[in-house]
Amino acid sequence: MSKILVTGGAGYIGSHTCLALLEANYEVVVVDDLSNSSYEAITRVEKLSKKKLSFHKESILNKEALDQIFQKEKNVDAVIHFAAKKAVGESCEKPLLYYQNNISGTLQLLESMKASNVTDIVFSSSATVYGEPDEVPVKEDADVRPTNPYGQTKAMMEQILKDTGAAYGWGIALLRYFNPVGAHISGDIGEDPEYPNNLLPFVSQVAAGIRKKVTIFGEDYPTPDGTGVRDYIHVIDLAHAHVKALIKLKQDKSTHTYNIGTGRGYSVKEMVETFRKISQKEIPAVCGSRREGDVPILLADATLANKELGWQAEFGLEEMISTAWKWQSQNPKGYKA
Ligand code: UD1
Repeated sequence: MSKILVTGGAGYIGSHTCLALLEANYEVVVVDDLSNSSYEAITRVEKLSKKKLSFHKESILNKEALDQIFQKEKNVDAVIHFAAKKAVGESCEKPLLYYQNNISGTLQLLESMKASNVTDIVFSSSATVYGEPDEVPVKEDADVRPTNPYGQTKAMMEQILKDTGAAYGWGIALLRYFNPVGAHISGDIGEDPEYPNNLLPFVSQVAAGIRKKVTIFGEDYPTPDGTGVRDYIHVIDLAHAHVKALIKLKQDKSTHTYNIGTGRGYSVKEMVETFRKISQKEIPAVCGSRREGDVPILLADATLANKELGWQAEFGLEEMISTAWKWQSQNPKGYKA
């Protein structure tokens, strides 16, 4: 049985991926400092899968502890690396925190992998590395030119991984996620942000009555209804892409970059309207000004992931929103009791 070490495994995408791994009969080791996540997510993943995973409450910045975990766990076959700071706005205010945490954390992790002869890694990258692309749907060979420190750290981590892979003959998969949304179909695990920066978690909280209204960030974009268009991808589909990437790395030790999206875009207004229909809630929305750094439209060309990983998105908008709403209504305070 293959053993996978998952950094940030208690987070939103991490927890869904841990569940997918357990369901696919992998052994799972999680390293998470719980700085932006909850142990309750791990408890629920174990409950849903009826399996146990090995959990270490530790920061990947602690190299000694990380080395010990690799030694203690023995025979780790591959790593999936999620642990990172991810708020765009905060990264502009505190760039050093982002560079320190994301870049140093990745370097420590790679050193520990090297010391333990672990040579496969799947990395949680983001479509944010494209900034404002010249063409949509965007392909993997488009220019990398992020527009904020968070995006810069993702681009730099990709480069560090590429160089490491080339030097040591490692298997590297860089998964560039578009806009992850939704929750597990049980409604037992989902996204639990302290403050929702992203559209769907915000709309969920408005629907639940936690917040009064959603502000639409700009109605004057060159898009059909004037609001921003994004490629939303169900978190379960995203989790499966990680499992497929692990399989790919077993067969092909080189660097692979994949867009993970559906190729289908929805506007802010379409998202809010569909949420209203599904939740049967009013969801007041007002128009506000554009948010700095936002692009009009971002869509994935995910042909490569389809061809090389045999992966494609299974879930549509309906499931994305209904699972997000199920998670929100079943857990009004997220993982807090
Ligand atoms: C954001 C991040 C991106 C990250 C991605 C995934 C920014 C600028 N970008 O992408 O780096 O990789 O999340 O987590 O934060 N919107 C509103 N009102 C809101 C919130 C959002 O109208 O209250 C609009 C946005 O303008 C955008 C769309 O909804 O058009 C989606 O926004 P969001 O969910 O924040 O994702 P991105 O900005 O695409």
